[in-house]
Amino acid sequence: MAAAIKDTVNNMLSALNLGGEKAGQDAPPQPPSESDFTELKQKYEKAGQGHVFQYWEELKPEEKGAIFQQLQPIDPEHINNITEKALNPPEEKSEESKPSLDQLPDSATSSVIDSKSGDLDKWYESGLKLISENQVAVVLMAGGQGTRLGSSAPKGCFDIGLPSKKSLFQLQAERIWKLQHLASKTYNKEDVSVPWYIMTSGPTRKPTEQFFEENKYFGLNRNNVIFFEQGVLPCISNEGKILLENKGKVAVAPDGNGGIYQALISSGVVQDMGKRGVKHIHAYCVDNCLVRVADPTFIGFSAEKDVEIATKVVRKRNAKESVGLILQKNGKPAVVEYSEISTELAEAKDPKDSELLKFRAANIVNHYYSFRFLESIPDWAHKLPHHVAKKKIPCVNDKGEQIKPEKPNGIKLEQFVFDCFPFLPMDKFACMEVKREDEFSPLKNAKGTGEDDPDTSRKDILLQGKRFLEEAGATVISEESDAGVEVSPLISYGGEGLDFLKGREIKAPAVIEKED
Ligand code: UD1
Repeated sequence: MAAAIKDTVNNMLSALNLGGEKAGQDAPPQPPSESDFTELKQKYEKAGQGHVFQYWEELKPEEKGAIFQQLQPIDPEHINNITEKALNPPEEKSEESKPSLDQLPDSATSSVIDSKSGDLDKWYESGLKLISENQVAVVLMAGGQGTRLGSSAPKGCFDIGLPSKKSLFQLQAERIWKLQHLASKTYNKEDVSVPWYIMTSGPTRKPTEQFFEENKYFGLNRNNVIFFEQGVLPCISNEGKILLENKGKVAVAPDGNGGIYQALISSGVVQDMGKRGVKHIHAYCVDNCLVRVADPTFIGFSAEKDVEIATKVVRKRNAKESVGLILQKNGKPAVVEYSEISTELAEAKDPKDSELLKFRAANIVNHYYSFRFLESIPDWAHKLPHHVAKKKIPCVNDKGEQIKPEKPNGIKLEQFVFDCFPFLPMDKFACMEVKREDEFSPLKNAKGTGEDDPDTSRKDILLQGKRFLEEAGATVISEESDAGVEVSPLISYGGEGLDFLKGREIKAPAVIEKED
């Protein structure tokens, strides 16, 4: 029975995972038979979405084949249902239905800011050991389109202006390379590998794969770099109708970073992890230039706590900062977006330390998952809600004219990666506070905005390099306050291994690429 349910959900998941154009599928699609066409058309008409066939008679045979292929795996009733639910989420207005929000319990939290160095060292060593035993994998969420950044290339390819010109992908790849090397040397193991599963979407897949090819996988073994694609969902008009991008194509958009769960199953990633013996997984967002990929301390911490999910957080800068908060909601771990919390709660002080905000655990989308938890995705993925993003969606109107709207004309449906947290009991969830200056500097905005843009990313890397050198006993001389040092991840993952610079004087800006 359980297996049957699992199968049904699996089928549903792969059906939902529409996939977009997959690399290598270039043969022109064949038009459907008359009976297949009639059957599908009736299904859409019954759901009130028959207009998607409005231009059928005008289409060429291969266009008919293409839109048929796109529409067939979609269940239009299901789309109606999730749209309805997303547009009308359960009200939380009455006193009884208001959620009770509290800090996470002490048992679930830890902070590198006030942890004992003995604990940090212990977690680092145990995490590195797990890496040396090939039990650790990394999942990267790189399916977003980076519209705010104003670049059409995948965000990971972005050059943030470092002296080395390294892209975000290269920085992350080199950190993985370095960890493999450190684990292999420390535990005297050959063939240490940290498989890197990269989630792309329809728009980012081809350019991402091409970038890795052109750059020879940045020195990593290409068999350990695995691309997979998240699903897409149709875009919906303000009137609840599926939008057509053109007469022969449905307008679709990636299904949000919460689409990762369906994609991990339907693309076979979880199966592949199982075959490789992976037990601990680090997942993160492509836009964070400081991300400590597969951080041994975080892996060791989470494994010791034996939790299903752990998250890294940074201290919220002030009550007004627009970040999601990790807390407990009705006794379950959860993320509450800043727009959902009252000013009174946002400004509340910690009863144990009035210098600190009570709710200060800012979400940086940096997660640990146990393999067990990923295996259980088919049991709960159908429960993840969809959220609404109002967007300007280019489409054809009723008259068959192509339009590029100037104000939002519809919605995209998105799942959020953190919406599965409340499925866990509190004792299977943990949270680690880390230093913002060492671990979080996201690239969200275009150059010149002064906040979370390429300049702040570059500066944060260079200033971290400067701190690494100073901690190693070098003196960094800089005339400008933001001049720092770029330390190649191939030399140091997190500040270790720089003793050879002790006593040296280094004039910033500088690049440390090799030991000399
Ligand atoms: C996200 C968090 C927010 C957090 C902030 C920190 C969510 C829903 N919100 O917000 O709580 O404070 O990061 O930086 O996670 N992505 C996909 N596929 C998609 C959409 C996004 O892979 O369909 C990836 C992006 O490539 C990126 C990451 O998810 O790596 C975050 O997406 P983004 O849209 O930038 O999230 P924010 O709105 O900034």
